[in-house]
Amino acid sequence: MVIIIPRIIKKIHKFPVPVFITYFLDSNLRRWLQPPAKMILRSGIKNGMKVLELGCGSGSCTLDIARVIGEEGRLYAMDIQPLMIQKLMRKLEKEENKKINNIETCVASAYELPFEQDFFDAVFLVDVLQEIPDAARALKEIHRVLKREGVLAISEFVIDTDYPLRKTTRRQCERAGYRLVRSRGNFLSYTLQFAKSG
Ligand SMILES: C[S@@+](CC[C@H](N)C(=O)[O-])C[C@H]1O[C@@H](n2cnc3c(N)ncnc32)[C@H](O)[C@@H]1O
Repeated sequence: MVIIIPRIIKKIHKFPVPVFITYFLDSNLRRWLQPPAKMILRSGIKNGMKVLELGCGSGSCTLDIARVIGEEGRLYAMDIQPLMIQKLMRKLEKEENKKINNIETCVASAYELPFEQDFFDAVFLVDVLQEIPDAARALKEIHRVLKREGVLAISEFVIDTDYPLRKTTRRQCERAGYRLVRSRGNFLSYTLQFAKSG
């Protein structure tokens, strides 16, 4: 019931998750259930890449991505909710994270990404796409900022109230001009890697 009612509400009306959900998103339980390192590995993110984390929330994966891409890489952590970005910035200000200096944060919508075309090696989304009312429009905009040989990585987790089946995500992306390159994980938690098909 606790999961079913929000699911029904979100099917009828899509909206960004409220900020208090970050207590779960940032929890050790969530890190155990949906480990950032596993999603990053499955996404094909590597040292030196320029990455967009779209819908980064309070940054449950952000610091892990920053460590993987290293000093040669650059991570743009973006969310539509200013409060999410504020939470992420507070994390970055902590003493233990002061050495990480390859992250830029920004508040923007997936419909209008503030980047030039062919800019990113990878675009990384975790539990975000289904929250966007017009996912096709967002995917088209991602297509614009992704390099020709770039990777779009989409991870989904069954506990999320917007969880889509793998075939749903695949269909949406293929319609938007991507082709599936790799599919990893299982029904509970999966990551799909796409390339631009044209
Ligand atoms: C379920 S949260 C996941 C956050 C983070 N990716 C994680 O896994 O912890 C979804 C995030 O997507 C953001 N979001 C929703 N619609 C968006 C849009 N149109 N443009 C950018 N971000 C959006 C929300 O504000 C929220 O922070």
